[in-house]
Amino acid sequence: MNLPTAGPADIARAVELLRRGGLVAFPTETVYGLGADARNPDAVGRIFRVKGRPASHPLIVHLADGSQIEAWAATVSREARLLAEAFWPGPLTLILPRRPDVPDVVTAGQDTVGLRVPAHPVAQALLTAFAGGIAAPSANRFGRLSPTRADHVRADLGDAVDLVLEGGPSRVGIESTIVDVSAGTPLVLRPGHITTRMLSDVLGVHVEVKVLARAPGFDDEAPTGVAQPAVAAAGTGAEAERIPRAPGTLAAHYAPETPLELLDAATLARRLAEAPEVVRYAVVWLGSRAHEAAADERHVVVPLSRDPEAVARDLYATLRRLDAAGVTRILVEEPPPGAEWEAVRDRLRRAAATFRQPPPSTEDA
Ligand code: TXA
Ligand code: MG
Repeated sequence: MNLPTAGPADIARAVELLRRGGLVAFPTETVYGLGADARNPDAVGRIFRVKGRPASHPLIVHLADGSQIEAWAATVSREARLLAEAFWPGPLTLILPRRPDVPDVVTAGQDTVGLRVPAHPVAQALLTAFAGGIAAPSANRFGRLSPTRADHVRADLGDAVDLVLEGGPSRVGIESTIVDVSAGTPLVLRPGHITTRMLSDVLGVHVEVKVLARAPGFDDEAPTGVAQPAVAAAGTGAEAERIPRAPGTLAAHYAPETPLELLDAATLARRLAEAPEVVRYAVVWLGSRAHEAAADERHVVVPLSRDPEAVARDLYATLRRLDAAGVTRILVEEPPPGAEWEAVRDRLRRAAATFRQPPPSTEDA
């Protein structure tokens, strides 16, 4: 199906709505965003209400190009400039010291602001016509998977949004890489399509991922008392001090509603072989052993490419589809090690974080 991409009339309407304090969902190359005029605190406040997102989670301000960086950032480090030059427009968010006039509702009262210049032509057209910053989180309800199609946005947010701009399936498919360049050594707060290796190459220093149990970079957190930390515990000392906390929250995740488990290929094969009669799994193989499960028609089997970028592109759409398939659990093969898989591995671990349970018994079905 060839969906029409938003044209000039849609962009003009979107700009009009944004100027009046409206909410416009728009495509980016990573995921769809839920946008409001970043200078209008009431409009930005509506984003939090529509998403059901706690006010303690800052929003990214989207800009048409890097020349507007000084309107939002108080200082721009050498590292920030190098990364902006190398990767903007593109799937990279830079955390910088904020200017005092950036609305508190955007930054959640922190002393930094997240900035990103998206590459998607519809996002570019919108930002250029609007000629200002658009604050936008992913256009999903709090705790759910990010949308990579306009249809996902409509399904999640429906009438709560004033307009959804169509832009086809998102090319990258997972959220932007977030790099804190506000002070000291650059630190990746959320892995993405732009890998630590690519960042390190540009900066000439080794850049590390610092993901915390109470992670910034993730707005979609598990309800209190449910989740286990998805990843290694916080660093210590100065680095940990730099990480803004989201009080009262546990490990963040991007999760389908169906329990999801991440398993190595051998364990996955064994789980399939030992599955009680009444249990139906959705099985996501990252290319390796799909044939082993294909024989059993009870399960939904999805073989994915060995190419991490292709897997990222379809990841959320696939999980949404499997979520709707009425299976007991989604079992996913653990991605291989290495920088090129870091973003997919990170999202899958977060999706799995809520569901540290033993294999299902017959009662589970
Ligand atoms: O690809 C993306 O980044 C998408 C598209 C729409 O641009 N946006 C996105 O926004 O994923 P969101 O809000 O779902 O996730 C961005 C995360 C927030 O949860 C927040 O933790 C982090 O970025 N963030 C924003 N400003 C920050 C700041 N000043 N310091 C630390 N983290 C920040
Ligand atoms: Mg989000």
